[in-house]
Formats: sequence, C-alpha cells, structure tokens
Amino acid sequence: MTEPASGKGPTEWSAHPVGIGPWEVEHPGVPSPLDGPDADRYDPELLADGDRRNVVDAYRYWRRSAIVADIDTRRHTLHIAIENFGNDANIGTVVRTANAFAVDTVHIVGRKRWNRRGAMVTDRYQHLEHHPDTTSVMDYAADHGLTVVAVDNTPGSVPLETAELPERCLLLFGQEGPGVTPEAQAGAAMTVSIAQFGSTRSINAGVAAGIAMHAWIRRHADLDAAW
Ligand SMILES: C[S@@+](CC[C@H](N)C(=O)[O-])C[C@H]1O[C@@H](n2cnc3c(N)ncnc32)[C@H](O)[C@@H]1O
Repeated sequence: MTEPASGKGPTEWSAHPVGIGPWEVEHPGVPSPLDGPDADRYDPELLADGDRRNVVDAYRYWRRSAIVADIDTRRHTLHIAIENFGNDANIGTVVRTANAFAVDTVHIVGRKRWNRRGAMVTDRYQHLEHHPDTTSVMDYAADHGLTVVAVDNTPGSVPLETAELPERCLLLFGQEGPGVTPEAQAGAAMTVSIAQFGSTRSINAGVAAGIAMHAWIRRHADLDAAW
C-alpha cells in the first residue's frame, strides 16, 4: 500500500513506475481527499480511476492546474531558450529537463511547432513562450531583468565549468547543425562551452542543455528543496 498522496514522495523510478490505482484500492478505509481541507487540489476522476501520469508521488491525484500552481510557488529564476529555425527533435528533451529543474519558462525561438514526443507530456506543467525571432527573446530578457548566456562551443566562449552563471539567467541553446545563431551570440552577455575531450565536434543539444541547466542548479538552487 502506498502512503497517502501528501508531502514528499519518491519519483517515477521507484515503487510505482506506471502510476497508482484508484484511491479506494490504494488507501482502503482512508477518507477521500475530496472530504479534506485541500479538496480543490484533487481530481475526482483520477481518484476514482487511478493516476497513471508521469508525476512525482506527492502530486498523485492532483489536478494539473494545482500541480502547475504548486510548482509556480518555487520556480527558479532560470529561463531556457532554444532556437528552432529548422525543426529540432531535441526540444522535447529540453522541456522535460526544464520541468525537472522547475525552470521558470522555456522560450521557443523561431518556428512555433516543435516535436513534443520527447517531452513525455511534461510540457503541460511547464510555462512555454514562443518568440518569432532572436530580437523578441532578447527583448523579453531585458524586460524581465534576465542576463542572456548563450551555450555553444564557438570561438570566444568561456568554459561553463568555471563560469559564474548569473542568478537571473536565460540560457540560450542552438540546434543541431548551425548551433547558436550569430545574432543570439551577439546579444548574449557571454557564451559558455562545455568541455569536451573526444573526437566529436559537439554533443547533442538536449544533453548540452541538461548539463548547463544542472550547472545553474548546482550554483543557485536550494538543494534541500529537491524531492
Ligand atoms: C550539436 S550542436 C551544433 C553546433 C556546434 N557548435 C558544432 O560546431 O557542431 C547544437 C547545440 O548544442 C549545444 N552544444 C553542443 N555541444 C556543446 C558544447 N560542447 N558546449 C556548449 N554547447 C554545446 C549548443 O547549444 C549548440 O548550439
């Protein structure tokens, strides 16, 4: 039997990799949360049918809007932008990782459409904004007091491993092939590169985004607040 769906819980990799069943089955004899003080959080259908979503156990049976509202109370001052001038399948991976790190907003620059498969539905819990061009996302950063840091291993970049990432930060990534556009690099306060030691010229953009986001997390997040 699982613990009631309150407080902190293990993640999807432990006891319930494919979710949990109806409340009455999981918690026989325990009053329904719909009769409790936080009834508004709970989704009657999920309580009745079970919750198979990819969410941490603390959010089991919660309405999606309640989950987003809860994450909103502790989102980081980290924004992510990814250029989407071709059609980059890595964006889903970036969105999923941004969700895991409670990033404030993911900004898609260029084409509005992107392949959601890799996001594994995490995009429903993540604020997303579209910008038609680089100027638009740079204006957003200026309006919101965010320092833009481009991420690419191009000439003039400084090592991410020793860079001081700003607390109010917008990390901007390029796409497979062209990398970060010259306009974006020109508008960024700095460009950081991830140290490589093998033969490949670059790593996958989704992987690079995960490494860079985690560098910010190590520097600025309250690790005691992690699940
Ligand atoms: C596959 S790379 C393509 C561009 C790359 N500059 C090249 O020469 O092949 C796509 C994106 O992943 C990120 N990236 C890949 N490798 C990186 C590295 N070593 N350091 C920083 N960013 C990297 C950057 O955001 C880059 O724009």
